[in-house]
Amino acid sequence: MGKSQLWQVKPVEHFEAEMRESKLKRVLGKWGLTSLGIGAIIGAGIFVMTGVGAKEYAGPALALSFVVAGIGCTFAALCYAEFASFLPVEGSAYAYSYATMGELFAWIIGWDLILEYAMGASAVAVGWSGYLGKFLHLFNIHFPIWIMNDYFTAKEIIAEAVQKGTMTQLADHYSSLQFPTLMGHELAFNLPALLVIWAVTMILVRGIKEASSTNNVMVAFKVCVVLFIIILGAQYINTANWHPFIPDRGQYVDARGGSHDAYGLIGIVAGAAYIFFAYIGFDTVSTHAGEAKNPQKDVPFGIIASLIVCTLLYILVALVLTGMVNYKDIDITAPIAAAFGAQGLNYAVFIISLAAIAGLTSVLIVMLLGQSRVFYAISKDGLLPKATFGELHPVFRTPWKANIMIGLVVSLVSALTPIDSISKMVNIGTLLAFVMVCIAVWIMRRKEPMRHRPFRAPAVWLIAPLGVIFNLGMMLTLEWANWARLVGWLAVGLIIYFSYGRHHSVMARVLAEEERSGKKH
Ligand code: ALA
Repeated sequence: MGKSQLWQVKPVEHFEAEMRESKLKRVLGKWGLTSLGIGAIIGAGIFVMTGVGAKEYAGPALALSFVVAGIGCTFAALCYAEFASFLPVEGSAYAYSYATMGELFAWIIGWDLILEYAMGASAVAVGWSGYLGKFLHLFNIHFPIWIMNDYFTAKEIIAEAVQKGTMTQLADHYSSLQFPTLMGHELAFNLPALLVIWAVTMILVRGIKEASSTNNVMVAFKVCVVLFIIILGAQYINTANWHPFIPDRGQYVDARGGSHDAYGLIGIVAGAAYIFFAYIGFDTVSTHAGEAKNPQKDVPFGIIASLIVCTLLYILVALVLTGMVNYKDIDITAPIAAAFGAQGLNYAVFIISLAAIAGLTSVLIVMLLGQSRVFYAISKDGLLPKATFGELHPVFRTPWKANIMIGLVVSLVSALTPIDSISKMVNIGTLLAFVMVCIAVWIMRRKEPMRHRPFRAPAVWLIAPLGVIFNLGMMLTLEWANWARLVGWLAVGLIIYFSYGRHHSVMARVLAEEERSGKKH
């Protein structure tokens, strides 16, 4: 296997042959795919991260952060839609890179997608746990702080309460603020986050059909509640909270003593990079191309329709939230529920928390499903062991071993890590995948200009470079620590590729055989 293997692309004809042989059932229609998209998109981003987005980055101009991130995502979505229409396979950005930039880039992106799907699910599970706490609080059910939060978050919550003089309210929210110790070390872990990942993993092992119908019900509920938030919340807007709409630029100092740029134009862009998490998910529609009845038309539709619906909802929710509460006073664990709570609307807190719990569950389903599909695609190409990642369950026909392994890792990360560290890592990884897809679509247009494309991204010469500029721009506003983690993560991936994938690549073998037999003829 020579150096050229690294740049060897997987010919489109090979993808087409695989599609014909695929064992996955084709059950998803246009609206089923859109629902999967919305199911993946509306989640912790809007229900949880809007709090930090407004308070620590953009102020009332959070709505503009949603516009900026929405524009970057639209460019990427059009590129995803074009690829998904003529390469409707489950591997998403991984497969598109394999078809255009070669095996090494494909592997890098496949590895990077773990940040998006698996780590994304970890962040959502942490948000889920936060809303569960709010919900149980309504019924006076309380647990100790160390069982509802990871160690760093628990410490930060206490530090902030001390700083603000709100220890009494905090003590009301938890049954205890003490930590157990083990060999002199204080312990804390987020048990609900761990358990919800395990519950979803069990559903996924049973199969896509069950998961898809559970998902539809939750998505409908979630969208109705977001509309409820907008309509009811609009009546409680105090326009004074929008002045100044873009507060002056300055430094935000958090309870842990860290500080970063905030407000002004830079705050809007940094806020966009932070709440970008809210948009992640439309691209998961492309990972279901293998299960779509009419992938060439319906997958682009699902991607674009889900993104448009969510962008509009997000901008309105951001305006409502920052209109209801002054950005300086926004709650950062469950901001939307807290905004209605502050108006004494306890029934709304009940409905919103319930919707967040259900809604975040549907995000978990789609993300964990997306992750196992990407692993399935990679293992089919031999870059990961097929016996573990590609084997389908004899009865349920799901990649069950992959599901269980992902569940194990994701649940541990969510139990032990603060949500903002995970989510920024997810954002930087996903932004990188978006940049690569925008580049890949452009390469494909030049390499295979005549190939039939059921969906063509309009003005690709403009859309693709703008997609790169917007998404790279957001990446650049993330602190250097996130870049360091991204580089570390990719380095681990490269070690795995050079010690395993490179020697087991199916493509390298097939192409070598084709070459040999071609010579013989
Ligand atoms: N967009 C998804 C969420 O906000 C990942 O939870």
